[in-house]
Amino acid sequence: MSLFPTTLPPAEAIPLRGGPVLRWGVLAPGRIAGGFVWALHQHTDQRVHAVASRAPERASRFAAAYGIPRVHESYEQLVADPQVDIVYVASPHSEHKRQALLAIAAGKHVLVEKPLALSASEARDIARAAHAAGVFAMEALWSRFLPQTLLIEQLLREGVLGDVQLVMADFGGRFDFDPEGRVFNPALGGGALLDIGIYPIWFAHFALGAPPRVHATGSLTQTGVDAQAALVLSYATGAQALLHTTVLAETPQEAVIAGTHARLQLDSRFFAPSGFTLKAARSDQRLRWTDTSGIHGSEGLAYQAAAVARHIAEGHTESPLHPLERSIAVLETIDAARGQLGASGRDGGSAR
Ligand SMILES: NC(=O)c1ccc[n+]([C@@H]2O[C@H](COP(=O)([O-])OP(=O)(O)OC[C@H]3O[C@@H](n4cnc5c(N)ncnc54)[C@H](OP(=O)(O)O)[C@@H]3O)[C@@H](O)[C@H]2O)c1
Repeated sequence: MSLFPTTLPPAEAIPLRGGPVLRWGVLAPGRIAGGFVWALHQHTDQRVHAVASRAPERASRFAAAYGIPRVHESYEQLVADPQVDIVYVASPHSEHKRQALLAIAAGKHVLVEKPLALSASEARDIARAAHAAGVFAMEALWSRFLPQTLLIEQLLREGVLGDVQLVMADFGGRFDFDPEGRVFNPALGGGALLDIGIYPIWFAHFALGAPPRVHATGSLTQTGVDAQAALVLSYATGAQALLHTTVLAETPQEAVIAGTHARLQLDSRFFAPSGFTLKAARSDQRLRWTDTSGIHGSEGLAYQAAAVARHIAEGHTESPLHPLERSIAVLETIDAARGQLGASGRDGGSAR
C-alpha cells in the first residue's frame, strides 16, 4: 500500500559556488563550447583558462569573447599546458574518441560532450585509457546533474512511484538540411539518435536501467543518417520505454515515468531546467515542482562542471552520478537502433 506524499522533499542541487575550482581548457570552440564557458563563468567559480582551435584566429576570437587568458595554436598544445587541469572536448561526435585519448595521454582529466563517442566500442576505448592513466573521464550529459534529476532520483529511490512500468520521452527538433553540417554528415557522426535521441534514451536508462531488448524503426536522410527513430526498449520485468527522436520536426520534448503508485510528468524541454507534476495512480492527487533557481536552458551546463570539480577533489575517476558504464550502455542502445535502421556513419555498425 502506498501513501501519496503530502509534499515533495526539497531539491538538493549541486552547489555551484564555494567548492573546488578547476582550470578548464576548451578543445574546439564551437557553438556549445560558447554556452558552456558562459554558463561556467556566469554561475560557478570554475574558470576556463585556455582554449585551442584548429585555426588559431578562431581560438583568439573565442578567448576575447569569453575572457580566457591563454590561447593555444593546436589541440596538442592545449592538452600539454601544465596550467590546464581538465580538457572539455566540444568537437563533433566523430572526433570525440581521438581527442579524449589525446587529453588522457597527456595526463589530463576530460569532460567529453555527448555522446561520449560514436559507439559503445569507442566509448570502451576511452574508459580503458582513462582507467589506465588514472584520470577522471565523463560524458557531458548535463541533464543528469540538474536539480530536477536529483529530486526524481530520490523519488524513485524512495519508491514514491512504485514499480516503474513505462517511460516515455521524446526529443525532436527541426534542423535545416546541410549535408556538410555535423547533424546530417555521416563522416561527423550525424543523425538524430547520436545528437538528440541520446537524451530520451539516457532518460530511459536512468529510470529503468539498460534494456535487454531494443526495437527501432525510422527513416534516413538523403545523406544516410537517421532522420527519425521510434524505439521500444523492453525489460525483463515487463517494463517498457517508448522513445522518439527526429531532426525533421519539433516535438513536445516531454518525458513521463509511469509507476504502479504514481506518474511523474516532466515539462517540455525535460532535459533542461524545467519542472514536473507528480500524480497519484489511483486518485487525482497531484504535486507540482518547478525549477525556480533562475538558471535557464543551457545555463544548466554549469551544474555538471561544478559536479566534476567536486568528483575530482573527492578522488573519483568517474562520476558516481553519470559513470562511464552508463554512457557505454546508452551507446549500446544507440548502436542497436542505428544498426536496425541501417544508418550510415563511421563505426555505426556495432548493432546487436
Ligand atoms: N550539451 C548540449 O546541450 C549540447 C548542445 C549542442 C551540441 N552539443 C554537443 O557538442 C558537440 C559540438 O556541437 P556544436 O553544436 O558546438 O558544434 P559546432 O558549433 O560545429 O562546433 C564544433 C567545433 O569542433 C571543432 N572541430 C574539430 N574537428 C572538426 C571537424 N572535423 N569538423 C568540424 N568541426 C570540427 C571546430 O572548432 P575548431 O575548428 O575551431 O577547432 C568546431 O567549432 C557535439 O558533440 C554535440 O553533440 C551539446
